[in-house]
Amino acid sequence: MADGSSPPGVPAVADGPAHRPPFPVGWFAVADAAAVPEGALVPLAAFGQDLAVGRTPSGGALVVHATCPHLGADLAAGGRIDDDRVVCPLHEWCFSHGGACTSAADGPVPDGVELRVWPTEVAGGAVWAFHGRSGEQPPGPPPAAPAGGSQVEVAGHPEDVLVGVLVGLGAGDAAGDGDAWSSRLADGDVVRVHGPGTVEAGGRRAFVTPVDGFTVAVRATSVADPEWRAEPDRSVLPGFRDWYRRFDRSSAPARRPARSGRRGRERNRG
Ligand code: FES
Repeated sequence: MADGSSPPGVPAVADGPAHRPPFPVGWFAVADAAAVPEGALVPLAAFGQDLAVGRTPSGGALVVHATCPHLGADLAAGGRIDDDRVVCPLHEWCFSHGGACTSAADGPVPDGVELRVWPTEVAGGAVWAFHGRSGEQPPGPPPAAPAGGSQVEVAGHPEDVLVGVLVGLGAGDAAGDGDAWSSRLADGDVVRVHGPGTVEAGGRRAFVTPVDGFTVAVRATSVADPEWRAEPDRSVLPGFRDWYRRFDRSSAPARRPARSGRRGRERNRG
């Protein structure tokens, strides 16, 4: 179904979709804001890509693809960031915070050269990046939950790791409502999942971020469960898993691939 829910009477999750995208669509806490330098880009591994993250002098942050679209220099190895541009360390081409090339050293600014920039926010002490299609804008801000704390890496799909966290907390199953899911714990607290990677329960929080197709980073403030693990059994919390289907796909249309040649350039401009 269009909203990712199961058709009435059909136990979709027990059978499971044949393929789950490894990187759900939504906001993820990718770094502690205090650990990210201002004015410099440093390496960041998330969403199966080599990324670079840096703080701007005005207190914001940028998450960009680490490979310069000119000749492929690593922007996380000497790339600079200031209030209105990102500067490549190799030939000093400059890009706006939206990714457009604004300066190509001594030459003319080329058409169609763009640095991929992920929608990025600083909130609750964390740098958040929105994973979606290239150019897709998030439908709202990241969860307003203070992030930070210790970090571990867990093998598994983000959904299975979240289910492991919820099982560790003693959460019962429930259906979700919009982009939030909640259930009551045995101790009376309510556990809430916001978007594809944030769990909150009575002041305890955990943040799940896909690193690559096999590994998930879990940042936890005070969800004290040292046995972080993924729960791959698809029959555990089937209501949660049905709700999580909504993050499997982007609602933004796919971009047309750029074409070379004169007709392609005309089409790209259109
Ligand atoms: S490789 Fe980045 S400016 Fe040349």
